[in-house]
Amino acid sequence: MSKSRRRSRVYKLGLRIAFYTSVLSAAVAFLLLWYLYDIPAMEGLSVSLWIMVGVFVVSYFVSFALQFRRIKVLEQVSKNISKKRFEEIQDLRTFYDDELDYIIKHLIKSSRTVEREIQRLNRIENYRKEFIGDISHELKTPIFAIQGFIETLLNGALEDEEVNRDFLQKAMRNVNRLIFLTKDLMEISKLETGELKSEIEDVYLYELVHDVSESLVYKAQKENISIVVNKFDRNIRVKADKNQVRQVLINLIENAIKYNVPGGKVEVTLTLPPKTPHKVHLQVSDTGIGIDESDLPRVTERFFRVDKSRSRERGGTGLGLAIVKHIIEAHGEQLKIKSEPNKGSTFIITLTRSESPQEPER
Ligand SMILES: Nc1ncnc2c1ncn2[C@@H]1O[C@H](COP(=O)(O)OP(=O)(O)OP(=O)(O)O)[C@@H](O)[C@H]1O
Ligand SMILES: [Mg+2]
Repeated sequence: MSKSRRRSRVYKLGLRIAFYTSVLSAAVAFLLLWYLYDIPAMEGLSVSLWIMVGVFVVSYFVSFALQFRRIKVLEQVSKNISKKRFEEIQDLRTFYDDELDYIIKHLIKSSRTVEREIQRLNRIENYRKEFIGDISHELKTPIFAIQGFIETLLNGALEDEEVNRDFLQKAMRNVNRLIFLTKDLMEISKLETGELKSEIEDVYLYELVHDVSESLVYKAQKENISIVVNKFDRNIRVKADKNQVRQVLINLIENAIKYNVPGGKVEVTLTLPPKTPHKVHLQVSDTGIGIDESDLPRVTERFFRVDKSRSRERGGTGLGLAIVKHIIEAHGEQLKIKSEPNKGSTFIITLTRSESPQEPER
């Protein structure tokens, strides 16, 4: 729309207001002159016409001054919304505290909501694109491995008693990897887009920690690794999502087993930091291969593995610590990692106590 046409719309509004006001005032003036002052109709009509012209001019300029700038603001806001230029909207000012200003303010508020929503959708969209790229990359390895084993079997290895079982077992291992990968992918996707909400309840850590470590003892023994849970008060409760804390512990202890050395040790310790008595520190440490300082900041990134081949060979996809980080952040807590190559690593999470530290025992 051309500038002059837009402008004429504002003039037209001013014209209409001026016209109605002047006609009304002329009619009132005519009736007053005629009835009250007994002035002849023709004379009264000509005076009323002059009044009409005067009122028209005055009300035209008044309405122009009152409406024009604000209609321009309204126009500007809606134009900025349609062009997604939200930052310019914030600078617009209103002048009077009337209905028109109310509409302008409301429109500015709505534009902020639209802006936030667009930003959120853009974030999700970027995340999805990146995620799909990562997934397809991660899926390729096991799928190609399965394809290779099946092709070899079909090409004659099926008849060979010595290798057919071995190849099928290898294909099965890759199928299992795909199953774990799918489970972790669903979990992390929900966590990263904020779809998975934490259900906070009182959680007794003693039972949870022992439960998880016992469930992983067999796995550790197979690798000749021992799991030790250091003694701590069995009454300690924290405000957390039980299943998510369980998941965190599983991921940390599994790593401590996976990246350990034969004869190594995994220790789970709960400490009560004196400076922050409402918190507990839950620590999983190992005597394993450790992590180089340069890799430390990246280990919680999704799909990051220090040694891809070692991790893959152990069935790892690089999602465990990313899941841990998201769960801990969703709880408003912290994850600290200390590590020294060839000595071991320590992962510490903070959790918030539900009871006041002085509360009597159960
Ligand atoms: N306790 C640890 N000691 C040494 N390195 C570790 C330890 N925990 C994690 N890492 C390193 O950090 C990387 C990322 O860990 P993460 O748990 O996210 O993935 P993963 O164990 O490879 O696979 P997943 O947990 O998804 O099965 C690992 O590949 C490993 O290189
Ligand atoms: Mg892991």
